[in-house]
Amino acid sequence: MNKKKLYLGVYGCQMNVADGERMAGELASLGYERLPETAAPDEADMILLVTCCVRETAEDKIYGKLGEYKHLKEKSPRLILGITGCMAQKEGDALIKRAPHLDFVLGTNKIAELVPLVERLEKAREALDSVNEADAEAMSEARKAIRRQRVVDTAEKNDISEGLAIAREGSLSAWVPIMYGCNNFCTYCIVPYVRGRERSRRVGDILTEVQEAVGNGYKEITLLGQNVNSFGKDLQGEEKATFAQLLSEADKVPGLLRLRYMTSHPKDMSDEVIKAVADGEHICEHFHLPVQYGSDKILKAMNRVYTTGKYRELIRRVREAVPDSSLTTDLIVGFPGETEEDFRELLDFIKEIRYDQAYTFIYSKRSGTPAAEMENQVPEEIKHARLNELMELQNKISLEINEKLVGTLQEVMVEGPSSKNPSVWTGRTRTNKICLWTHGTELPGQLINVKVTQAQTWLLRGEIV
Ligand code: SAH
Ligand code: SF4
Ligand code: F3S
Repeated sequence: MNKKKLYLGVYGCQMNVADGERMAGELASLGYERLPETAAPDEADMILLVTCCVRETAEDKIYGKLGEYKHLKEKSPRLILGITGCMAQKEGDALIKRAPHLDFVLGTNKIAELVPLVERLEKAREALDSVNEADAEAMSEARKAIRRQRVVDTAEKNDISEGLAIAREGSLSAWVPIMYGCNNFCTYCIVPYVRGRERSRRVGDILTEVQEAVGNGYKEITLLGQNVNSFGKDLQGEEKATFAQLLSEADKVPGLLRLRYMTSHPKDMSDEVIKAVADGEHICEHFHLPVQYGSDKILKAMNRVYTTGKYRELIRRVREAVPDSSLTTDLIVGFPGETEEDFRELLDFIKEIRYDQAYTFIYSKRSGTPAAEMENQVPEEIKHARLNELMELQNKISLEINEKLVGTLQEVMVEGPSSKNPSVWTGRTRTNKICLWTHGTELPGQLINVKVTQAQTWLLRGEIV
């Protein structure tokens, strides 16, 4: 078969990375080979963007990319340019209006439709085979015929497509989606509108995928969902399962070295899950529990359902059950109605909980969500100032926590040479901290023990023992 080149531009969260791997897998059946993300898109026969719309900046980036690709479409009429993912789902037709050079807009749950769609688009391009390129009029007709085949398909579809081919990136870590969608409707968040309601995959399908990935040499598996703690609630009869059960089952897959998962909503984090992590052999001692904010007033307005008190209590149980675990979070500053007093409360909460790391975001108004309609939107410059102050505090805490690790032994999974210095290798601790050491003879995928000698905000340095 004729090899064709696919440039996949993936934005947003790991769910998009996992979706992109399935798209690449499916398109391989039509002869498409994925170019590395560093390749120039003008080498491609097809450019496919897997997009995010969680914040306005994410969407701006995509519009920028679409602008860049316009001249490529003009230059090569055969090029297929498609957009999928969350922004495609959200914007639909509006994308075609803004970027008429797009060939297709495909919603988030439509990966199974990709192959037949691309086949149709390729067929339409056959009109070009018989056209003399110098004949401007004939070329223009052929281009029109191609444009008539444009497709926008964002109709809702709530079932799960199993059995899709997967072309995984990397060779050590594999992403395995366990559920799709979200039912939580946090008032700031667009995800439930673009990813639909929660749907869990069957445990058997998930375990098969984990086994296959491990059989193909992947050492680390990350189970993915917007809210993994509510996994299984929608499964019926004999298929009923909990996330804790799934974790324990996946932990037993022979050959697996590390098991991770994300994301956990604090309101659904059960003692069974904590126990599964504590008892698990390969389940890593890292808890990502996005608190989003540290005051009850704002948490309520965000519809996060828990209070600071409940969250504090959860963290106490987590740390009691898994003492050397790391804890990370997501935080949003500038939510509507946030006062200076609320913000001080947040800072105090951060000082109290002491996260290993926090992913900090400026609130971004998403139209269609309840928070977008709320009064007292916070001015941009205040949001930025608060973000900076928050990051400064968090960086100080991250460094202090890492400094306490100097002198300890950490199990590190070897990844490979660091980007800056090939004799310095990189890997991650079980607690998900990046670790650097001087390379000896160890190989990627091996577990080694590293004695930490130096701490930085974002990473540890050490020596192999
Ligand atoms: N389902 C996951 C992650 C969803 S999106 C969870 O609930 O944790 C990842 C993060 O983006 C969220 O945790 C939140 O901190 C942030 N986020 C979501 N919507 C946002 C918005 N409108 N503005 C700024 N940050 C947002
Ligand atoms: Fe968005 Fe909240 Fe769902 Fe996470 S839990 S995806 S923040 S609505
Ligand atoms: Fe973005 Fe969609 Fe993920 S909006 S964060 S890519 S679920």
